[in-house]
Amino acid sequence: MSTPAFDVVVRNARVATASDVFVSDIGITNGKIAVLGLGLASGKVEMDAAGRVVTPGGVDAHCHLDQPMDPPVRMADGFESGTRSAACGGTTTVIPFAAQQKGESLRAAVDDYHRRADGQAHVDYAFHLIVSDPTPEVLTQELPALIAEGYTSFKLYMTYDALKLNDAQVLDVLAVAREHGAMAMVHAENADAIEWLTRRLEAAGRTAPRWHAHARPMLVEREATHRAIALSQLVDVPILIVHVSGREAVEQIRWARSHGLQIFAETCPQYLFLTAEDLGIDDSYKGARCVCSPPPRDKANQQVIWDGLADGLFTLISSDHAPFRFDAPEGKRPGGQEVPFRHIPNGIPGLETRLPLLYSEGVLGGRITLEKFVELTATNPAKAYGLHPRKGTIAPGSDADLVIWDEGEFVVDNKLLHHNVDYTPYAGMTLRAWPAVTLASGQVVWDGHEFFPRQGQGQFLRCGPPTLRPRLR
Ligand code: URP
Ligand code: ZN
Ligand code: ZN
Repeated sequence: MSTPAFDVVVRNARVATASDVFVSDIGITNGKIAVLGLGLASGKVEMDAAGRVVTPGGVDAHCHLDQPMDPPVRMADGFESGTRSAACGGTTTVIPFAAQQKGESLRAAVDDYHRRADGQAHVDYAFHLIVSDPTPEVLTQELPALIAEGYTSFKLYMTYDALKLNDAQVLDVLAVAREHGAMAMVHAENADAIEWLTRRLEAAGRTAPRWHAHARPMLVEREATHRAIALSQLVDVPILIVHVSGREAVEQIRWARSHGLQIFAETCPQYLFLTAEDLGIDDSYKGARCVCSPPPRDKANQQVIWDGLADGLFTLISSDHAPFRFDAPEGKRPGGQEVPFRHIPNGIPGLETRLPLLYSEGVLGGRITLEKFVELTATNPAKAYGLHPRKGTIAPGSDADLVIWDEGEFVVDNKLLHHNVDYTPYAGMTLRAWPAVTLASGQVVWDGHEFFPRQGQGQFLRCGPPTLRPRLR
């Protein structure tokens, strides 16, 4: 018998990239895609994908794993359980955040985050930075050095006391992004307006989870989005507005594009599938599960987000996985208490459900094409953060990160997920697709039923400069 030509051959796949869908075999050697074409020679492992769609492994470019929190609050997922969950949902690259604390050096935050990740990850990972204290040392030394070392993106917050920057600080950091070719991600909500609304709600005794949505109406997101756009125009540098929730922010981004400004935009599944009612229609604490910022809006805004995905307004879709257990003193009940909404840890889990939700309700629901799905979930995230073409596509030379899709009926049930969170906001939804197989660097890490650990084999990725083309419309 002749020696197999490849480590793995995936046969007769309906290969989907951001530009085409075509039938091909995929030959894999040493964790990389070696060749595409029909009738390939044999592989040590043969996988029949006849009739099945195969997409690039997802790149989740906005998720929070083991990010340091003020005690008693702690994230439920670190790099081990987070990347396990990602892999089982078809995501093979994650980009969480090395977050600078005020008073801390950025370098210290990066070193600490490497210690948290080392030897843990089942899939590949890169780091964004969070810049919360842009001292002269950070602006002139640390940030330029870190960008040169492969940390080419950073998030700026316009809200949250522990993280927020004022406008002058935002300008300072954007100037560094311009000079050194990095991508700035902006969390756009007006901090003072939120604080003012929160105090009034508290004074009226309105502290249940559902009031979180009233403290952060679309107006506060719209104003900050507009301000971020203006600041980016002043510095003449592209920015990426993260977790856009609805019409008012979308209108600002459309306005910016129509004026020729390079504004990229991200949204998340929570703005397609949840509404403010998921935070509660009465004072029940159950709504704490869906407290995230910006909050989910309403059905009409869900449609605005779908439209923006289909027509190119959005550059990418991420999970914003921010994992806190609901029934836990380190989670949504800090210290074991039902706390006023201002103290509920913000965020919801979603690493594992991002791709199945979008494939099922977007592609199979007829709202977006398969090519658009790939662009939004893999190709553009890889381009935005300098990982393309190693990640985010199916092409010779790219990492053999693949998802073979199963179509059928899949009821979302937290017991079947692999994160360390005790709930999913999507429990009970019937989806039409789920990954049948996930390959990470050519190795099966999920086969539709079972997870195959490769802890510590996930590699840290140094990012290059962003390679997204400007989208003007
Ligand atoms: O509520 C959210 N989105 N929590 C995670 C942190 C952030 O701002 O992305
Ligand atoms: Zn944010
Ligand atoms: Zn986030």
